[in-house]
Amino acid sequence: MNQSVYDALKRPLRDLRISVTDKCNFRCTYCMPAEIFGPDYQFLPKEQLLSFDEIERLANIFVKDLGVQKIRITGGEPLMRRDLPILIQKLRNIDGLEDIAMTTNASLLPKYAKDLKEAGLDRVSVSLDSLNDEVFGKINGRGVTVQKVLDGIDAASNAGLGVKINMVVKKGMNDHEVIPMAKFFREKGHILRFIEYMDVGNSNNWKYDEVYTKKQILEDIHKVMPIEPIEPNYTGEVATRYRYIGTKEEIGVISSVSDAFCSTCNRARVSAEGKLFTCLFASNGHDLRSLVRSDRNDTQLADEVVGIWRGRRDRYSEERGSKSVNRKKVEMSHIGG
Ligand code: GTP
Ligand code: 5AD
Ligand code: SF4
Ligand code: SF4
Repeated sequence: MNQSVYDALKRPLRDLRISVTDKCNFRCTYCMPAEIFGPDYQFLPKEQLLSFDEIERLANIFVKDLGVQKIRITGGEPLMRRDLPILIQKLRNIDGLEDIAMTTNASLLPKYAKDLKEAGLDRVSVSLDSLNDEVFGKINGRGVTVQKVLDGIDAASNAGLGVKINMVVKKGMNDHEVIPMAKFFREKGHILRFIEYMDVGNSNNWKYDEVYTKKQILEDIHKVMPIEPIEPNYTGEVATRYRYIGTKEEIGVISSVSDAFCSTCNRARVSAEGKLFTCLFASNGHDLRSLVRSDRNDTQLADEVVGIWRGRRDRYSEERGSKSVNRKKVEMSHIGG
């Protein structure tokens, strides 16, 4: 039986998000703007990354001793890490782990989808913010075409992976594409989730005025294709769900700015260099790599992680209001959203 461990605000830990690299082949303006993440940017050297064996050991502890049920692999772009299917296979063997997912920009899925499925990956969430090449090329900062991502989505689907689509909506950037995206993915049969633009990291120069809120998104869609709310799949689900009335087709909205969901937040994040972050907006992480590379045994390691979780009080999005809190925050590309 898995244990449950509760934090200081009585929240259990269920969902572990593990970043496997801080590199990405895109330069999305709201995440890794090219002016900051330029050719001279120093990404983490290989020896600083957790090895697959180290990740497996930690994951085991999180599942057995802390009650984690779901692991999501993130980046940067996780498929930039070589031999990723080998890690998936290791994780698949962990008893009690119910769900293995990955968040990806899909560009490398045509190459890896089949191997990932065979290794035991259950599903992917693909980021796509526009169906217009000019808009999308600008957002991704590398001129990558929409078709390239759609090919990745098809490759995942054909390989038997579950697929959801994530669209970050930012006012003036792509808010006019809420309806075209909704129509397109409704027809294609994939759940589309709209994400409010957030003040993660230190480089995107976030302003509240640029947030296209859940309310606006839902109003836009409802006018053209009427929707109604539906129950969450599980407690602490990040997206609130809606279905097109009279159908089984659904969408989701992730409203971390206008309607925060910290009170049920059961997520922890481990960065590629092995730091444990108890919030997406944390300034500092707890150095698990040093612990893993010390002579501590698994029980001692588990005790340290349990202690960190028990002390957790994070609720950044509920505290933020409409003003970004002025403190140094970890970059999105370090902890994968
Ligand atoms: P499912 O397992 O399919 O429900 O997916 P998920 O919503 O847990 O994962 P996904 O990576 O698709 O999440 C989508 C986006 O929601 C992330 O990339 C983040 O931008 C945002 N998000 C996820 N978790 C949190 C969170 O704890 N806090 C905040 N503020 N945003 C989050
Ligand atoms: N606000 C909201 N979502 C973001 N993502 C990256 N940066 C931001 C931001 N500032 C999303 C990506 C992807 C996931 C990793 O997080 O589009 O879906
Ligand atoms: Fe890369 Fe995803 Fe960040 Fe875009 S949002 S730069 S695809 S990690
Ligand atoms: Fe969880 Fe922090 Fe997001 Fe709130 S802001 S939901 S505490 S990760």
